[in-house]
Amino acid sequence: MDLKSLVLSIPLFFFLLTAQAQRTAILGALDQEIEILLDSLRGKKEVYRGGLPFYLGKLQGKKVVVGKSGVGKVNAAYTTAILLDRFQPDQVIFTGVAGGLHPEALPGDVVIGTHLLQFDFGQIDSLGFHLSPFRKLEGGRHEQLLIASDSLLVQKAQSAATQVSFLSISSRVPRVFSGVIATGDVFVSDQATAQQLYQDHTALATEMEGAAVAHLCRSLGVPFVVLRSCSDNANQNARVSFNQFVRPAAINSASLVLHLLEELD
Ligand code: ADE
Repeated sequence: MDLKSLVLSIPLFFFLLTAQAQRTAILGALDQEIEILLDSLRGKKEVYRGGLPFYLGKLQGKKVVVGKSGVGKVNAAYTTAILLDRFQPDQVIFTGVAGGLHPEALPGDVVIGTHLLQFDFGQIDSLGFHLSPFRKLEGGRHEQLLIASDSLLVQKAQSAATQVSFLSISSRVPRVFSGVIATGDVFVSDQATAQQLYQDHTALATEMEGAAVAHLCRSLGVPFVVLRSCSDNANQNARVSFNQFVRPAAINSASLVLHLLEELD
C-alpha cells in the first residue's frame, strides 16, 4: 500500500473501530409479553436504570435491550423515557396483546400499528367526553395526538409477518392487520365502546401503552413500531377471553418481533 492510500484509509479505520452495531429496544407491558423474548436472549445481562430492570443481550444475532413497562400510559411513558435516555436505542419495538376492535380482528390475530392514538385525552362537559385531536404547547404551537409509526419499520414488520407461523386459536389461521391502534388508560370490556372506537378512529385494536411510547419516541426522534396480537374483542367477554388467550397472543406478537429483528440492519 502506498503512502497516499494509507493516509486515505485512516478515517475508514477509525470509523470501523468506533462504529457500533445498532441496538433495538423491545418493550412489553406484562411479564407474559416479554418472557418468550427473555427466554431466547443470548448473553442475557440484567441492569437497573431508573429503578427498573432492563435486559441486554442478543436476539437473532441483533443487539437488544428488553424492558417491561408495566400497564398504562404513565408507566409506559416513564419506562420509555428511561430507556431512550439511558440506552439510546436506534429503534423501539413495543410488543404485546390488545383488544380487537375491527369486527374481524379475533383472538390470535396480529395488528401492526401504523398510527397510535390516545383516545382518552380531551374534555368532559355536560354533553359528555370530547376527544382533542391535538395538545396545545407553549408559543401557540400544538402537537397531533395521532402519531405515525416509522414507515420503514411498519413495512419491515409487514414483510416479516408473511414469514411467521402464528399460533392458531380455535383452529383459525391468524390474520394480520395494519392500521390505527387506540390507547387509553382503561381495559375496554364493552361492545358499544369498542364499536365507537372502531367507527370514530378506524382503530383496529385497543391497548394501554402504545401511544405513550409513540409520544416519547416522537419527542426524541427515535423510530418505533407497535405490534400487538388480540387476546380478546374488548367486549363484555374481554376479561375471560384475555385470561384464556393472553399467552398465545403474546407469543404471536413476540414471534413477529423475532422475525422483524431479522429484517433489521
Ligand atoms: N389489552 C388487551 N385487551 C385489552 C382491552 N380489551 N382493553 C385494553 N387493553 C387491552
